Amino acid sequence: MATLETPLCALLGIRYPILQAGMGGVAFGPLAAAVSEAGGLGTIAAISPTPQRVDEEIRLARSRTDKPLCVDIGFPARAPQDLAALRLDALPAPVQQLHREIEALGVNVQPVDDQAMGIEDAKAKLEICFRHRIEVVACALGTPKWAVDACHAHGVKVIGIVGSARHAQSAIRNGADVVVVQGTEGGGHTGEVGLVTLLAEVLEFATVPVVAAGGIVQGAQIAGLLTQGAQGVWVGTRFINTLESSVGPNYKQAIADAGYDATIRSLLFDGLYVRQIRNRFTEVWEGHAADMLPYPQQRMAMSPARFAAAAADLKDHQALPAGQGASLVRDVLPAGAVLQRLVEETVAALAAARNRVAFA
Ligand SMILES: Cc1cc2nc3c(=O)[nH]c(=O)nc-3n(C[C@H](O)[C@H](O)[C@H](O)COP(=O)(O)O)c2cc1C
Repeated sequence: MATLETPLCALLGIRYPILQAGMGGVAFGPLAAAVSEAGGLGTIAAISPTPQRVDEEIRLARSRTDKPLCVDIGFPARAPQDLAALRLDALPAPVQQLHREIEALGVNVQPVDDQAMGIEDAKAKLEICFRHRIEVVACALGTPKWAVDACHAHGVKVIGIVGSARHAQSAIRNGADVVVVQGTEGGGHTGEVGLVTLLAEVLEFATVPVVAAGGIVQGAQIAGLLTQGAQGVWVGTRFINTLESSVGPNYKQAIADAGYDATIRSLLFDGLYVRQIRNRFTEVWEGHAADMLPYPQQRMAMSPARFAAAAADLKDHQALPAGQGASLVRDVLPAGAVLQRLVEETVAALAAARNRVAFA
């Protein structure tokens, strides 16, 4: 078995410095357990699911592995206070168009009780993590000091996920044990700065281990990032195309089919910048950017179509968050095999660099 270790491994109690990213709709108990059991850190996405579902997913993961697990919770500064159902017939024209097209495919679009993401919801999920003695909590959309302090009081390590150097500074100031810096290449919510630059910026001041994210699907990339100074990687899109991920076959096929320019970064998903694969879900907004609502109203407006299309695994009408690395993912494998391959590729790339690059 290959050896690949950084100080991050001892800090988090894992064998390999490869962390499977929190991914809403994708990463639940089965995926997290498979990655942790294989020696990485598996993460359960807990932003949108109800606290009860989070509890069930943790129980499931715990029944499959006794290795450390991470739970990803959202702490947005502007959490919606009142999630009263929107009137579906009063939504922007592109949303209504999407509804018509989805219903024409025989799928019912209904109002959604989207849990995300009030502070009470986040607190309830933290309590569940503490009850299950979860080892690591990842903070998405903000790393508030009160949440870090609560985790530390329960012996839980905290990862702050950021998309800019400024946000990395505040996550470290608020006490995060690790920062994940996600470059603009990444899937889901994503910033403007490319990973190689963002990582260099954050390494200049970071006093905690820095983990790289965004577009990572091959070991050679990991070798480069470890050489640059990252202590690990946080990998999303590559783990969508695994047997244990919770999305349907059409989502996985869209990733396997993705070409070089398949993804776009847009506000259409929820009013914050999200990278996703271009399809009908995104195309209905072309030429209608002025109709987009601010966050969180855009999130509420898009949720009924998003949840209905995802539940039916619609090929062209579901939201397909994915990073630019989707163009390099062509297969669907067990998550443990993905992790093992990434480790072996990284080791091989580090060794190859030693042979290829002359230095003294
Ligand atoms: C389908 C999908 C859903 C995501 N959902 C979340 C989420 O719920 N919470 C979160 O912190 N990040 C989320 N992200 C971002 C990931 O945690 C991670 O930073 C990103 O996937 C890394 O880029 P990559 O996909 O290119 O590997 C999501 C990403 C994807 C692709």
